[in-house]
Amino acid sequence: MSQQVRGVVSKAKGAPVEVTTIVVPDPGPGEAVVRVQACGVCHTDLHYREGGITDEYPFLLGHEAAGIVEQVGEGVTEVAPGDFVVLNWRAVCGQCRACRRGKPWYCFNTHNAKQKMTLPDGTPLTPALGIGAFAEKTLVHAGQCTKVNPAARPAAVGLLGCGVMAGLGAAVNTGQVERGESVAVIGCGGVGDAAIAGAALAGATTIIAVDVDPRKLEWARGFGATHTVNSRETDPVEAIREITDGHGADVVIEAVGRPDTYKQAFYARDLAGRVVLVGVPTPDMTIELPLLDVFGRGGALKSSWYGDCLPSRDFPALTDLYLQGRLDLDSFVTEEISLDQVEEAFAKMHHGDVLRSVVVF
Ligand SMILES: NC(=O)c1ccc[n+]([C@@H]2O[C@H](COP(=O)([O-])OP(=O)(O)OC[C@H]3O[C@@H](n4cnc5c(N)ncnc54)[C@H](O)[C@@H]3O)[C@@H](O)[C@H]2O)c1
Ligand SMILES: [Zn+2]
Ligand SMILES: [Zn+2]
Repeated sequence: MSQQVRGVVSKAKGAPVEVTTIVVPDPGPGEAVVRVQACGVCHTDLHYREGGITDEYPFLLGHEAAGIVEQVGEGVTEVAPGDFVVLNWRAVCGQCRACRRGKPWYCFNTHNAKQKMTLPDGTPLTPALGIGAFAEKTLVHAGQCTKVNPAARPAAVGLLGCGVMAGLGAAVNTGQVERGESVAVIGCGGVGDAAIAGAALAGATTIIAVDVDPRKLEWARGFGATHTVNSRETDPVEAIREITDGHGADVVIEAVGRPDTYKQAFYARDLAGRVVLVGVPTPDMTIELPLLDVFGRGGALKSSWYGDCLPSRDFPALTDLYLQGRLDLDSFVTEEISLDQVEEAFAKMHHGDVLRSVVVF
């Protein structure tokens, strides 16, 4: 048995995405079918469409989603039909060397569904980040379903499934921001603003937002930035030093994914400070730094995949903070759209008009 639903498919490099019929198989052992309620449009979906991630077209896009479990396969005990879940793209295995060391957020063998969703002619689809949630229903590994409080608005908590978790976790988990510290965030899109919100939650007292777009800086203040720097007008390294008594920030988070902004992050931190790279570079990018500066400035240079999150620990907790009014996820949702507006949403993202467009069903 299988069912046919509508989904957003990217068929060829650079071509506009299409809403088309997709076939979702019944869940096999360890799998679940989820009725998607909301799915955010993330920059990574556009990277897929442009061939920047793999060339395994056709892709079923969408990976930042919340929904209701509809069916589960054999042996699934952690979720049941009717559960409200946020989908995650790192279902930890529990057995690889990272998991065995007690650091499952680094899991090197994360799980996805074994069966493929297909086009009606049988062509297998590659789901974005193993999810594929610009679809009325999607097939995932049951471990990709994280139960959260069902009182939450799907369009808001679905964002925990990618960009918000990546940014917030970059500050809280990877950067380990502490009370009273100074934090600078370079690039204030959805990911950077989530890093700002995370720094605020962790008790940072100086939070500096850096962007080239004044609208983004305005929004960043709403998430907790205490200072803003337009790096098109002002040298951000000097500005960050000035705001921090000449020292630099304790933690600098790079949320753009470019060598020039990484270099700014490297030099804008205090001695022994931490740099966290959460922006995703492309394969052609390289960086050159004096090795003496790498050594002499001390501290830590870290990368953050998915905010070093553990979905089972972080998604329910962040959902609770949202419901208590302590984490403003609603402000990340610039607009709610329908399935056939994803292509328009890519254009808005490109022009910087939105933090997140979210498809709601
Ligand atoms: N590490 C992870 O797990 C993870 C997860 C999701 C997304 N990401 C990555 O995070 C990055 C940001 O994602 P997003 O959704 O926030 O994208 P976005 O396009 O919404 O935001 C990027 C921001 O950077 C700003 N910017 C561009 N050039 C700049 C410059 N030179 N200096 C300062 N600011 C500049 C833009 O104005 C924009 O506000 C992307 O590279 C994305 O792929 C990483
Ligand atoms: Zn593992
Ligand atoms: Zn994403």
